[in-house]
Amino acid sequence: MSEFEENVRKALATPQNQGEMQDADSVGTVGSPDCGDMLRMWLKFTEKDGKKVIDRATFQSFGCQTAIAVASMATELLKGKTIEQARALSAQELSGELGALPPMKIHCGQLVEGALRNALDGSVASTPSTMPTLSDAMKQPSGKVKLNFQNPPTAD
Ligand code: FES
Repeated sequence: MSEFEENVRKALATPQNQGEMQDADSVGTVGSPDCGDMLRMWLKFTEKDGKKVIDRATFQSFGCQTAIAVASMATELLKGKTIEQARALSAQELSGELGALPPMKIHCGQLVEGALRNALDGSVASTPSTMPTLSDAMKQPSGKVKLNFQNPPTAD
């Protein structure tokens, strides 16, 4: 088992910030065109030193274990970040202590990055409690949830 896999395994033993956030200010959902996995992230903002910063972040995932581990790391890492700081974080940076994403797992990190950017783009969840859950959304792809599929990665 590689060090990365070992770190993922450890992160999955105690995943952080999993679940819907009832009082979220913003929510973002993405699906991966590579594997069909989906991830949703909720953000709650607060004010610190006159700046709007992320107070809390949570996620719900129908994705692989890597995506769950990255989302767990990322939601911890996001606390206290301004919108600009959060937007500047790459999938690799969001992976935090997991270490560098192996090439086959980069899209798993990008799923987390995509959901974060989607949430940062200000899709305000005015009534998050009435939103369908991610599992509902998957059962009814034509339902009310708008899925923003990421662009396939460019080969460069
Ligand atoms: Fe789909 Fe990891 S394999 S997100």
